[in-house]
Amino acid sequence: MADENKNGGNSASGNGGIGGKVGLLEKVTTTVKDDVQALKTDIPTKAKEQIEGLKDPTKTQVYTSIFRHKHDDTPRNRALGVLSNVFLHLHPAKINRDAVRYSYTWGMGGITFYLFIILTYTGVLLMFYYHPSKVQAFRDVLYLEHDVPFGKILRNMHRWAAHLMVIGVWLHMFRVFLTGSYKKPREFNWNIGVLLLVFTLLLSFTGYLLPDDQLGFWAVTVGTNMARATPMLGHEGPFGPQLGMTPYNDVRFGLLGGSIVDANALLRSYIWHCIGIPIVASVLMIVHFWRVRKDGGISGPAPVMLTEEADKPRRGPKAAGE
Ligand code: HEM
Repeated sequence: MADENKNGGNSASGNGGIGGKVGLLEKVTTTVKDDVQALKTDIPTKAKEQIEGLKDPTKTQVYTSIFRHKHDDTPRNRALGVLSNVFLHLHPAKINRDAVRYSYTWGMGGITFYLFIILTYTGVLLMFYYHPSKVQAFRDVLYLEHDVPFGKILRNMHRWAAHLMVIGVWLHMFRVFLTGSYKKPREFNWNIGVLLLVFTLLLSFTGYLLPDDQLGFWAVTVGTNMARATPMLGHEGPFGPQLGMTPYNDVRFGLLGGSIVDANALLRSYIWHCIGIPIVASVLMIVHFWRVRKDGGISGPAPVMLTEEADKPRRGPKAAGE
């Protein structure tokens, strides 16, 4: 102890005495010895673990760092499998089997969503070939149809998916209505759904003008002419003229970017079709799916009961009072 103090004192004073150096050397030697000893025991253990890991990869550290639970088919591990995966956890870990039967949901909400994904994907690819200008729009469509490799199928996938999405969203709404799923507690989601229906139709309508062909031109001419009669906002609608609406400042003018269907209308349609409406629709879909979960999952048919079961006395607090 006295030595140590002395050595320490020497080192501290910066003289670098022999004693201090010897002490340091001893320390280093001991540490190295310990390390070598540890390696002697650790390496074989680690090697053994690695070899064991090759026999059963689910026991390796790499595997267990990614998958935190077993994958055997027990209800607990099945639930954990869903909860610990970022994509799967969007679904509930457990659902009512009857509620997801195709005979109940017709799969229509899901089909509508998948069609939206196809539309987004093919739509982005179409954007590589399309220019929203009066000079080029129709030429680009011809180019796609006749020259671009797989252009015809790409355009038709987009067109057919659009038609099917409109049909799908109506059928989905029809099934929700038939199963009474718009009732409490799903009223809010029904309203989100109504907005989704409107935005789906708007996507379809704005896409109509983009090929700049006769069909689209006249469809949009007729469609936007209806906007003239919008109450208060159209120059031919109720209270429109009284509120100062003219063909040059009313809602139709705003939609077309002018008083006729022309270059500005094409550009506006394009921007609404490719950016504005898809963003709003995507956000609404996220809310819609989230609400399906928050409202207790898909509504599900009324539980089926045999007559003799229905007659049996029920358990629980209510039954006790009966
Ligand atoms: C882009 C359009 C839409 C998409 C992608 C969509 C998607 C979905 C999905 C995937 C479900 C889960 C159950 C199922 O597949 O049937 C669902 C449920 C529901 N949707 Fe939609 N939907 C859309 C439009 C609508 C419309 C137009 C309405 C009604 C006006 C609506 C109202 C509802 C309601 C109330 C539920 C809950 C149904 C239940 O719990 O049984 N949705 N939707």
